[in-house]
Formats: sequence, C-alpha cells, structure tokens
Amino acid sequence: MSEEQIKELEIQFEARIARDEKIEPKDWMPEKYRQTHIRQMSQHAHSEIIGMLPEGNWITRAPTLRRKVALLAKVQDEGGHGLYLYSATETLGITRDELLEQLHTGKAKYSSIFNYPAISWADMGAIGWLVDGAAIINQIALCGASYGPYARAMVRICKEESFHQRQGYEILVTLMKGTQEQKNMAQDALNRFWWPSLMMFGPTDAESPHTAQSMKWKLKRKTNDDLRQQFIDQTVPQAELIGLTIPDSDLKWNEEKQQYDSGEINWDEFWQVVKGHGPCNKERMKARIAAHENGQWVRDAAMAYAEKKEKRKTNK
Ligand code: 3HC
Repeated sequence: MSEEQIKELEIQFEARIARDEKIEPKDWMPEKYRQTHIRQMSQHAHSEIIGMLPEGNWITRAPTLRRKVALLAKVQDEGGHGLYLYSATETLGITRDELLEQLHTGKAKYSSIFNYPAISWADMGAIGWLVDGAAIINQIALCGASYGPYARAMVRICKEESFHQRQGYEILVTLMKGTQEQKNMAQDALNRFWWPSLMMFGPTDAESPHTAQSMKWKLKRKTNDDLRQQFIDQTVPQAELIGLTIPDSDLKWNEEKQQYDSGEINWDEFWQVVKGHGPCNKERMKARIAAHENGQWVRDAAMAYAEKKEKRKTNK
C-alpha cells in the first residue's frame, strides 16, 4: 500500500473515531492503535487472572458457607473476565499462547494491586469494596471505548464487578457491627489497601506516557487522575457511613471544587511494585506459572477432543 493510501485510510479512521463509531476486528486500523489495544487489553486480562490469587487463598478459610459461596463465585467471575478479555485481545491478531508467554516472562504487566498480600478475612472485604470499586470506575468509562470487542466485554464485566463491590462492602459492614477486634481488623485492611487502590489508576496524567494518545483514540474516556478523583469522592462517604477512617491526614472536602483534596501518593512505591519488586510479585508469578503448567493436561485433553470431533466430521 502506498503512503498516500495509508494517509487516506488514517483520515477515514480518525473520522470514524470522531463520529463515535465502534472499530471492529476486520476494520482497517493504524498499527499503533492495534498495538496499544493489545498492550492495555492483555494487561487487563492478566490482571483479572492474577487477581484470582489473593482471594483464592481465602476460599477454604471463609468464615461461613454463605461467605464461601460468594467468594468462590467472585473468584470464578474474575477467571471469566480474563477469558473474555483474552478472547477480545485475540481478535487483534495475537494468540493466547503469545499473550501468556508475555505474562510469564514478565514482559507484560498486570495491576500493581495484586502484589500486596491478603492477610486477614477483612482483606476480602477491602479488596471487594476498594479494588473492585476502583475497577468499576475505570471500566464503566471503558464501556464507551472505541474498539467494539473491548467495549462490549466491559459491559458484562461491570455488572459482575458491581456484585463483587457489594459483597466486599457487606463484609466490612458486618465486621464494623462486630467486636472491637473485628472493627480493628476492618480498619487495618483499609489502612493497607487504601493507597495501593489509588495507585491502580496509574501514574498522574503528567507522568502517564499513554494517556494523551489513548484519549484521542477513545481507548480511554477519562484520564487516570480524573478516575482516581471520582473514586476518592465516591468512596470516602462509604467509609464514613460505617465508621471507618481513610488513612490520609490531608484528606478534606473542598467546598469550592466540590471534591476531596487528598494527600500525595507514594509514587516510588508504585514504580517499585510495577517493576516487580512489590511484596508479592515473585509469589504471584510462581503461583501463576505453576497453575499454567499443572493445567497442561486439561489443554491437551481439550485439544485431543477437538481433533477427534473434527476427524469424525470429515469422515462423515
Ligand atoms: N499497575 C501496573 N502497571 C501500571 C499501573 C498499575 N496500576 N498503572 C499504569 N501501569 C503501567 C502501564 O501499563 C504502562 O506500562 P507499559 O507502558 O509498559 O504498558 C505504564 O505504567 C504507564 O502508565 P499509563 O497511565 O501511561 O498507561 P495506560 O494508559 O495503559 O493506563 C491503566 C494504565 C489506567 C491501568 C489502563 O491501562 C487501564 O485503564 N487498563 C484497563 C483496566 C485494567 O487493566 N484494570 C486492572 C485492574 S484490576 C481488575 O480489573 C480486576 C478486577 O477484578 C478487580
């Protein structure tokens, strides 16, 4: 294709984005648009799968059968989200094996939040309430993303994340109605998960290399800072309602801006975790790779079945 032809296609593409049309897998798209989507969507898929690990550890230790059923369903949902997102990413011309290879070799990132340990039952509450709460705010915006398969996956995922957020909050509501020890446990979980939850939204807009282009292509509909602010404004009253204190001494309502002012995030900690030096990075990757290797027989069996079925069809 000549340079002029590519230019013309790019103009048509930008016009479609401006008209808010969805871009579909077989449509022409700039190579950088494709690569950016593979990067973000696959990191999102990896986050869902790695995100099963901290909560998965608590399924056998849930305090009641009802709690166990809800947590089990939540963790399974996260696995499902990973699968939708891997499938959606594959529509951009990359295979599942390549995507997993990128995760297992450390080439692809996953959300920093999952590199923190879940050490008490209250952490199941904090993760559902804060981590899924942050994910919803981010993902509601992504329902309007320009790439059709990603936007559509987000609609269903957001519905399920809402249930996750409610079940997490309800765990904390229950603990906050309990003994002083239970209240302390809930507060301790909030203390440990508050700042890492704010980090989930990524670096500040000024420090984010991808935001400007992703906003132009409508991959992102809101910036990292705007989403983070929305999360703070929405979550602080929820904490206050049940008697929890947000661990930020600089947090205060700004009447003029009609939003909360808040303290500085520890960005050194964020980048350490992103670069693989968080409290649980090594443990998470070890568990993930072991799960992949232990699941080889399942993939082999599924492939053998598919081949057998195909053979039967061609013999008919
Ligand atoms: N953890 C790890 N890496 C992060 C990060 C985080 N919290 N925030 C940013 N980064 C990485 C980016 O991936 C990028 O790295 P790269 O250049 O190697 O790809 C780099 O830091 C610079 O950040 P940018 O802000 O420029 O990058 P993006 O434009 O991609 O924005 C994002 C980052 C806001 C996380 C965006 O990718 C996004 O909205 N992703 C989709 C949502 C997602 O991935 N959520 C994961 C949360 S967990 C989840 O949903 C599971 C649920 O069940 C709880």
